[in-house]
This record gives sequence, structure tokens and C-alpha cells, in this order.
Amino acid sequence: MCGIVGYVGDAARNVSALDIGLDALARMEYRGYDSAGIAVVRPGELVVEKKAGKLANLLDQIAADGGGDSSRFAGSTCIGHTRWATHGRPNDVNAHPHVSFDGKAAIVHNGIIENFAELRAEIEAAGIELTSETDSEVAAHLLALAYNAGPTAGDFEASALSVLRRLEGAFTLLFTHVDEPGKIIAGRRSTPLIIGVGDDEMFLGSDVAAFIAHTRQAVELGQDNVVVITRDSYRVMDFDGTPAEGRPFTIDWDLAAAEKGGFDSFMMKEIFEQPAAIRDTLAGHFVDGRVILDEQRLSDDDLRQVDKVFVVACGSAYHSGLLAKYAIEHWVRLPVEIEVASEFRYRDPVLDKQTLVVAVSQSGETADTLEAVRHAKTQGARVLAVCNTNGSQIPRESDAVLYTHAGPEIGVASTKAFLAQIAANYIVGLALAQARGTKYPDEIESIFDQLEEIPAKIERVLGLKGQIHELAEELGPIPTMLFLGRHVGYPVALEGALKLKELAYIHAEGFPAGELKHGPIALIEEDLPVVVVVPSPQGREILHSKIVTNIQEIRARGARTIVIAEEGDESVRPYANFLLEIPASGTLLQPLLSTVPLQFLSAEIARQCGNTDIDKPRNLAKSVTVE
Ligand code: M6R
Repeated sequence: MCGIVGYVGDAARNVSALDIGLDALARMEYRGYDSAGIAVVRPGELVVEKKAGKLANLLDQIAADGGGDSSRFAGSTCIGHTRWATHGRPNDVNAHPHVSFDGKAAIVHNGIIENFAELRAEIEAAGIELTSETDSEVAAHLLALAYNAGPTAGDFEASALSVLRRLEGAFTLLFTHVDEPGKIIAGRRSTPLIIGVGDDEMFLGSDVAAFIAHTRQAVELGQDNVVVITRDSYRVMDFDGTPAEGRPFTIDWDLAAAEKGGFDSFMMKEIFEQPAAIRDTLAGHFVDGRVILDEQRLSDDDLRQVDKVFVVACGSAYHSGLLAKYAIEHWVRLPVEIEVASEFRYRDPVLDKQTLVVAVSQSGETADTLEAVRHAKTQGARVLAVCNTNGSQIPRESDAVLYTHAGPEIGVASTKAFLAQIAANYIVGLALAQARGTKYPDEIESIFDQLEEIPAKIERVLGLKGQIHELAEELGPIPTMLFLGRHVGYPVALEGALKLKELAYIHAEGFPAGELKHGPIALIEEDLPVVVVVPSPQGREILHSKIVTNIQEIRARGARTIVIAEEGDESVRPYANFLLEIPASGTLLQPLLSTVPLQFLSAEIARQCGNTDIDKPRNLAKSVTVE
């Protein structure tokens, strides 16, 4: 949810922690943009600036206060935060950093401190007045209380550890104190924190984008780990102070991958990166006639034992899971259940050692999906993660992982990660089919070949951008929009509706086309735009003819139809107000193509509605690390 950054540089070199911290915050803003704040830690003094709204508001305020050139902000250590509000409104007071009652300690926090009410009462009983409505502020006061008196008095490290041991919930916390301005102490439980190891400088970030401009050397922290950083060292331990090891790794994507590369938004750049995302996700997974998973900690024997598959995921990842159900049931003849992750563990699903749970998550941090994984493991199920973020929590807690190689996705609305998830889910299906012998090797090879043709076909679909721009202009203002599909077109309809809601803030619904006459058809009125995803006329003809009938039904009631159909499918032309043609593909692979026009459409309509910042839709955050 929130983005966290920390920096310790060399005071003798006069580095500006403020400039480095603000730059890092800009890269973390996609994680939360309700407010932003930064604290520069100087000997005996904290300089804190925080402001509600996007980072730009904070930058304006700092500029008004003299900016990076003023001596007021001089300092070589800072912590910063971009917020996605959980407890307390997004206003200046609730923005982080939070400062202790004595003005000497500052903290930033991502996650939720579940026992904050109890801690708050204790702090108030000590005569301290809390100023914000957040759960986070307690951590600053607890640190100061521990540092000022009692067994940890005067010991910053012991004080921070004592605070961490008292907290319940999910959190990443960065602690600073004016008595030790060259040091940051940070602890994490179930939310992310990565160390960036520079040359005479040390970084902390919710993800590597925070410091990729400065170093590619990173260290991942384990669960319930603490790190103490100075400009030239980092030391990892657990909450009791027992030394622990981080996992060093080298970041394999560069700054350019996180920049807009000439596009006016990250989302648009990421839409155009989809051919590469699919190509990279498929690469290396079909070698010498065999499907290969990444970190295959499940043997073929394990896959043969599976008698049921559950897919758990949220949002777009859930839609990719719906597609996995169609593919796996068809190729492997195994029952597949797909469940929104936030519902999974509360429903008491029937799981055992023979159940394979596939957890799909771009970030690998989504709290609902992580908790579903944990629940599945307590029930003895095997868990396979499909994830885009190397070393994140969900793959770490899973038995096996298949990485989608979509590269960093910064736009909050998922595009390339979603397509890569579909491809990865299909690789899982093919791996199961191979292990269980439900498909002949040449059939698997043929499906893989068709998958490998998809990137070139997506390139052609990208050519529809101009046509979709005109379509959106012609549509004009719209109050609502419906999306219809059958079979694999149904998850595409759901994804199209989600994109429009997220980006344009317009009400939208996706339905199975056959369900229309069981209720939703009552919504159809003159000029209502309805998107229909039409399956290939080849292969499953019955699907095609049924949906052509559905288009006629809605046209007869005055709807404006936006039809996505295969090139050369003349049968739909008479009923389409707008026809968007995509290349032919196998039935199951069509979503990899039919989703793309809907991404463009939502972006274009969003712009028309005045949402110029499609990378950061209101109220949303990229990684949802709270349940
Ligand atoms: O990181 P994850 O894939 O676990 O995220 C899941 C959803 O939060 C995510 O797909 C969300 O729905 C996107 N904003 C959709 O565009």
C-alpha cells in the first residue's frame, strides 16, 4: 500500500538526503498517493515536511520553504513516505513521518498495527497527546518512551526492537532518532522492505525502484527481520536482536524500465510492452519438447497426485485465474475452483495434500492472496505462486513459483502483468497436462507454438490505438457501460469493466452474454454502449453463433455495440456500431488479444472524463498490503 524510503549518506560529502529521498518518493508514489512526507535527520534536530495529496503538493511546500538549496534541509539521512490511507483521513496531520512527543524520534510505517487502540490508550495514560488519527503514530511515541527511560534508555537499537516486539499486525517501520543521525533502524513483518547497498551510502525502499538510480545491489529481508543501516554498513537481526541473514541479489532491470520511455503515462508504455512481456514470460519454459517451470519445488510425481486445483487471486489477477480454469479443465481434466483471495480462507474451503493452490499476484505482496496462501498451507495443500516480483513474500511462502517476466509495472491499472499472468497460468496448465499425460507431447508443443505467435499478433492489435481514440470521441460522455462475453470472453469482459471503473470512474459491469436475458438486459436503453467480445467463428462455432444472437438482442433495444471480433468475421459487421478487429487465434488464446483494445478504450475514455493521470487512479494503490 504505502511507499517507504530511507537513506543514509556521507555527511562529510555534503550529500542532500532530501533530494535523494524526494526522488525515491517519486518512484514509490504509485504505491499510495493520498499524502507524502519526508524527515531529514540532523544532529539534535528533525526537519519534517508532509502534505496531503500527491507528491507534487509536498514538493511545492518544500520549495516554498526554501527547497533543497536551503540550509534548513541540509542533512545526509532521511526517511520518507507516500501514503495510502487506512486509519485516518488523507490529510496533512495523518501524513507520515510521525514524530514523537519530545520531537526527537520520527517514524514511517506501511501496513496496519492491529493492536494500536490498546497502545494508544497506554500512551494517553502516560499523559501524551496523540495528534493524528493513524495507527502508526503510536510507534513514534513508544520509541521515545523506550529511549527516554527504563531498561532500554539511551539505546536506540534496543528501544526500536522493544517497540517492534510489541506490535501486532503487518508492518514495515523505519525509525530515526536525532541522537544518532547517521542511522536508520527498520523492521518488517508481512510487508516489504528491501535494502539498497551503495558506495558509501545505504538505501531502504518498499521496492527496488526506490534506489535503482543509485545501485543495483540489493538485500531482501526475511519475515520478522530488522536491519540497522549506516552509510557504510547494514546489519540484519530478528526482533530479539539475534543476528540473521538477508538475501543479497542483483537487480536485473534498469532505470529505463521504470521510466516512461517517451509515452505520456506508464500505463500506455506498459500496454506497448505486452508483446515483450509475453515473449519473456514464455522464454525458457519449453525446452527439448518439455514444459519447464521456474523454481520447481514440486516434482512431476507431486503434480500427478493433485486431484483438485484452486486458483486464488484478486482483481485482474483473479480474472487471469478465471482463464486458468478454462484452460486447465480442458487440457488436464482436473476440477479447478477459482476464488477471490479475500473470501478464500473465511469460507473454509475443502483442501488437503492433493490440492494444488495456484496463487496469482503481480506484486507478490497482496495481503488477501498472501493470507489465502498461508491458509492453504496450514491445510496441507501445495502452493504454486505465479508472480511478477522476484523474491516477494507470496513466492517465498509458496512451494513453487512461476515468474511472469513482465518487468516492473508502475501503472496502478494492470495491463502487461495481466497478459503475462494468462500466459503463465497456461504454462502451469501445460505442465500439469504433461506430468499427467492428458495431452500428447505434440499437442503441448502445438499449443506452445501458438502461444509463441501471440506477441506478433499483439503488435497488430496495438495498431488499433488510433481507431479506439476516435471511437471514444464519438461515444462522448457516457454514464455507464456494459461488457459481454462468452466462455473465455467472459473474463475479458470482467477485465474490460474493471479497467473502465478504475481509470474513468465510470460504472461498468461485465456479464456472461448468456446471462443477459436473466436480468441485465433490463439495463439496456437507447445509446447505452455495450462491448461484446466475440469468439472465433472457427473452432467452437456454437459459441460464436450464440453471441451473434446476443448482439442482435441488445441492438434491437437501442444499445450502441462495440464489437471485438476476429479479422474477416463478416457475420458480426451488420450489428456492430463499432467493429474492432483482432487477429485469429486458438479459442483459449484469444483473451491475450481481445483484452488489449479494452485497455486502450478505458484509457481513452478516462482522458475524456478528465482523468489526466491514468497511472494513479483515485483511491487505489498498486500493492494492496492490507486485508
Ligand atoms: O499484485 P496483485 O496482482 O496481487 O494485485 C491484485 C489486484 O490488486 C490488481 O490486479 C488490481 O485489481 C489492479 N489494479 C487491476 O488493474
